[in-house]
Amino acid sequence: MNGGRASLPVRIASIAVLVLLAGCRVAPPAAPAHVFAHGAVAADHPAASEAGAEVLRLGGNAVDAAVATSFCLSVVRPYSCGIGGGGFMVIHVPAAADGRPSRQVAINYRETAPGAVGPDAFVGRAADASRIGAHAVGVPGSVAGLLYALEHFGTLDRETVLAPAIRVAEEGFVIDAHYVAAVKAVGTKIDEDPRRLDDAGYVWRELCHAGDVRPGDRLTNPRQARALRLIARDGAFAFYRGPIADAIVDVMKRRGGPITAADLAGYRVDVTAPLRGRWSDYEVVAMPPPSSGGITMLQILGILDRLDVDAATTDHNDTEYVHLLAEAMKHAFADRSRWLADPAFVDVPTGDLLAAEYLDARAAAISRTSTGAPMDYGTGTDHLEDGGTSHFSVVDRTGMAVACTETINLRFGSLLGVPGFGFALNNEMDDFTTIPGAANAFGLRQSDRNLPEPGKRPLSSMSPTIVLRDDVPVIVAGASGGPRIITGTLQTILNCLWYDMPPHVAVEVPRFHHQWMPDRVYFDERWADTGVIDDVAGIGHETARRVSVGEVQLILVDDAGVHAASDTRKGGVPAGY
Ligand code: DON
Repeated sequence: MNGGRASLPVRIASIAVLVLLAGCRVAPPAAPAHVFAHGAVAADHPAASEAGAEVLRLGGNAVDAAVATSFCLSVVRPYSCGIGGGGFMVIHVPAAADGRPSRQVAINYRETAPGAVGPDAFVGRAADASRIGAHAVGVPGSVAGLLYALEHFGTLDRETVLAPAIRVAEEGFVIDAHYVAAVKAVGTKIDEDPRRLDDAGYVWRELCHAGDVRPGDRLTNPRQARALRLIARDGAFAFYRGPIADAIVDVMKRRGGPITAADLAGYRVDVTAPLRGRWSDYEVVAMPPPSSGGITMLQILGILDRLDVDAATTDHNDTEYVHLLAEAMKHAFADRSRWLADPAFVDVPTGDLLAAEYLDARAAAISRTSTGAPMDYGTGTDHLEDGGTSHFSVVDRTGMAVACTETINLRFGSLLGVPGFGFALNNEMDDFTTIPGAANAFGLRQSDRNLPEPGKRPLSSMSPTIVLRDDVPVIVAGASGGPRIITGTLQTILNCLWYDMPPHVAVEVPRFHHQWMPDRVYFDERWADTGVIDDVAGIGHETARRVSVGEVQLILVDDAGVHAASDTRKGGVPAGY
């Protein structure tokens, strides 16, 4: 496998060629390169990247910057993530001058099912009950997770790291086309069934301004500023036991939802060892279950390795590359469907799924000239879409790195807001297997292992990932976009490490996606080479186009500096110093 990277001049010279080769149906915007000397934040909104960079410039470390970025995202991308949701953070702490070795940690602050919710919670309920309204909401974890990270790995106080978010909420921020599209999507849901306003009224008025928004408008959110000020002053108490908890319980009572004061007071962050895999010269440090991202990406890489697919044997996005990578995705997503869920509740066979003999067998089952039926993939199983997530990557001047992905699931989550505090509650319950055999909003079919249980965390595709070489971060990456998070993050890492693309090119070139079921290769609408699509169809794959192939935020570190790229698909811009 070719793990080497070209020198910087060679890589820059190759940009023009690559952009031409990757010719696009909708030309990718020419994203400029962003290279910083000391540290950087790549988030999916410029104000959020800037909030983190401000904290880095103050002398804060990568975790301080990550916490500042996340709270700011809660304000500027209130439909993607925020204090009403949850997330995963992977941290690399570099070796210390006093001889302490480097270490990595995974912080799991995914939402949990409320105590009153069991496996049958959605049986007999309205078809949209796991997506809209009070039953859709999991107990939020973001505030607990971020404050845990700050207390154990940060250096600054709460007031300092929350200051940029509070300022942005009070003084205002400029909304972009992505925000307006999210508002429009809520309007469409309300038009489809105006009774939804009973749940969505607060979010529609407070965060969507009743649809009266245009790109370039300046919005404030003084009510969320109030929530953030309380969190800065009183810490997690404000959210889980104090006035914000009271407001959440009040909404639940009014809308007949299951979250109680005890559920909020009982929320616990889970701190765990990340999943690790050797790949070429690299060590991939990824999120373990209940994220499916780490196992799925490591399975795909292991299968590609065995098929001898790399930059020496394929051209980027050529037919062979697309076919073999799609076949590897089919195996890994079939196993995701069959086996993965919260390891605190079910036994997840991580070792078996990543065992060399198992990956040998999966790779041996792949044909270079044909594709099989869904049941031929993974270990076989007889059981058989988006907008609310945000990923950001941070590297500081000491080499400390944070990959963090957070979500409220679909755009504006459950559409249920928390009056007085200006934020939306997640609809993460839809990531459980709500009705056995039925697909979730992302078309993902999942097993009974992922049925709701009190305190259980739903299976996730969020894939915050750090790639190390010789114990030093080379890449910090992740994405939003449901299952496209996994395939988008993986392809972008391959674009950098196999095809030597600089990050801003690696993030922008067209991508594709296969998630086993539906049994279809989805091509980025940016994909111009219809010859490849026809050839892939000729091998036997069903093919389709799709607008959303995930939005990747990536940092690459090399001798020239800290290269940060925010995906123009979501309008982000990185910041650093
Ligand atoms: O955790 C998950 O896998 C989903 N809740 C992620 C949702 C998502 O990425 C929405 N899209 N942008």
